[in-house]
Amino acid sequence: MDPATRIHELRQLLRHHEERYYVHDAPEISDAEFDARMRELSALEAAHPDLIEPDSPTQRVGGRPAEGFPTVAHLEPMLSLENAYSADELREFHARLCRTLDVDPATPLPYVAELKIDGLSIALTYERGRLVRGVTRGDGVQGEEVTTNVRTIRAIPLRLGGQSPQMSVPEVMELRGEVYFPRAEFQRVNDEREAEGEPLFANPRNAAAGTLRTLDTAIVSRRGLRVFLYQVVLPQGNAPVASSHHDTLAQLQAWGCPVERHHRLCVGIDAVLDFCEEWREARHALAFETDGVVIKLDDVALRATVGATAKFPRWAVAFKFPAEQARTRLKEIAVNVGRTGAVTPYAVLEPVRLGGTTVQMATLHNEQEIARRDIREGDLVFVEKGGDIIPKVLGPVLAERPFDSAPWSMPTQCPNCHSPLTKPGNEVVWRCDNIACPARIRRSLQHFASRRAMDIEGLGESLVDQLVTLGHVHTYADVYSLTDDTLAALDRMGPKSAANLVAAIGASRNAPLWRVLHGIGIRHVGEGVAKALARAFGAMATLRAAPLEQIEAVPDVGAVVARSVRSFLDDPRNQAVLDAMAARGVQMADAHGGDADTLRALTGKTFVLTGTLASMPRDEAAARIEALGGKVSSSVSKKTTYVVAGTDAGSKLEKAQALGVTVLDEAQFQALIMA
Ligand code: IVH
Repeated sequence: MDPATRIHELRQLLRHHEERYYVHDAPEISDAEFDARMRELSALEAAHPDLIEPDSPTQRVGGRPAEGFPTVAHLEPMLSLENAYSADELREFHARLCRTLDVDPATPLPYVAELKIDGLSIALTYERGRLVRGVTRGDGVQGEEVTTNVRTIRAIPLRLGGQSPQMSVPEVMELRGEVYFPRAEFQRVNDEREAEGEPLFANPRNAAAGTLRTLDTAIVSRRGLRVFLYQVVLPQGNAPVASSHHDTLAQLQAWGCPVERHHRLCVGIDAVLDFCEEWREARHALAFETDGVVIKLDDVALRATVGATAKFPRWAVAFKFPAEQARTRLKEIAVNVGRTGAVTPYAVLEPVRLGGTTVQMATLHNEQEIARRDIREGDLVFVEKGGDIIPKVLGPVLAERPFDSAPWSMPTQCPNCHSPLTKPGNEVVWRCDNIACPARIRRSLQHFASRRAMDIEGLGESLVDQLVTLGHVHTYADVYSLTDDTLAALDRMGPKSAANLVAAIGASRNAPLWRVLHGIGIRHVGEGVAKALARAFGAMATLRAAPLEQIEAVPDVGAVVARSVRSFLDDPRNQAVLDAMAARGVQMADAHGGDADTLRALTGKTFVLTGTLASMPRDEAAARIEALGGKVSSSVSKKTTYVVAGTDAGSKLEKAQALGVTVLDEAQFQALIMA
């Protein structure tokens, strides 16, 4: 292949994977594979400089910022790190540094080795020691302003020098570090998502990225994100806060910032290699995920001497631990039916130890992937556990393939209800379209009863299982016909728990409309859309009668969502279920009757909350506003009606003042919501 064609091909490929990684937070290939392609492209461009184009993936710092948050420029670009995958590559990094510094390669340069946190980089601006802004990395030059979300992370000091306020801090500075999920919090969040039928986060990094971009601050605050800081950036012309990196970390700590405590001053590259070796296994016992070690030249003056390329500092490198792999037998390829009817294959494995846990299931993505990798039942396969919680099957060991093996094919029928599976032409996912499929009903009911939907306490997974298996429940409506006697006869139930459950089911008849809309499992309708629809229509009957255009006109509801809502409500099977629910006393209407009818006190008003309120937590304030028909947004714009400023209010307050938006103090806000 001629170089121009290959260069073009690589650019397309890298752009695709950059978008998967930076914009969608859903990478399809490993970092190592990506880096290998990037290196190949860099080498080709270096050999053919006439083919370099300004928009090649090699010619920019990072990806594109996502939409939805205001964009803010960084004080100086947030660079990325070059990766090293072996001791040799680390030695090469050291040798290169020595060449640049014009010193003997045997020189024992002082380095600081830090654990590489598997999270998301963040830049925090402090003015006179107060946190005024939090910005994601974005494309490295500018990122998304997520200050309200960042302020909910308790590990981030709102002002520096907490214990000794007289401590001197620079007038303006940007502190940089990594926002991450501790393993335990990550597990908790995923357990909750599973219980609610929401898709799981693949790894803590995706979870942190998804959380920081959440528009609902209350959710962010509950998630338990943490942060480690490791860099101080000052405006041009300012002297550094310390002459070494080691002392900079100590200074950060003295200001009250969280600094990962296992960092070590290593004199010479051998000491660095020892550090990496020590953590190869020990890292599994840490409270957070780490996928490597970051090695940084300690001397700040020397760093300035060696400088940076457009993408990486020359004074630092990331050593990546290899993803852990094991070989085991693939016993069976089974399929799982989700609540929307999506049918996905997964691997049932001979149990094997991998990355500190025993693994017996792994993802196989979809039918196409299985065919592409020619993975068959009975194969000896390689499984890999990288940053993701669910390991993946890499591929078969062909030499060990049983002689009677046959290619796998997707079942043509649903394993649960035996309906034929369908697949629209342009999709990769097969579906069971039978809404009465027991597997779908099981998942759907678990979601319907969950805390963020109808919130029916006591109607958990095992009970749902029994009710579906015994044929007591086929649709959501059947839940409202359950009697004390039926329930008391179930496994692990007695008269008392049966009575409690009947009461909980009874109470859910009066649940607000958004809970019903979220619970009934309309594709693309999450909690936020459900609330927007409830706010606009107020009653299921009104929504059912609404033309597509009217649904599409609701704020926060787009064309795809509106079509999905309309087609759900047009399906006679769904209509029958909704009618039966109504007949069994489920209200499906809010007292206010929707914006279209009676207007509530705060209908049409948009609020931004900033700072700490003394009388109630932020999420409660948000709930009060929403209950009165108002909307809560995370960023101030000309459309904002009120900014409610508590103590320690930051840049939002300034922005409100600049835009002439009305600012309410806590007392004024109280008066408004009490009125
Ligand atoms: S230093 C200019 N130190 O890894 C140097 N980065 O792969 C900037 N990361 O973008 C980074 N732990 O988001 C540094 N101890 C650590 C880190 C760390 C995690 C992240 C950071 C960076 C990425 C590069």
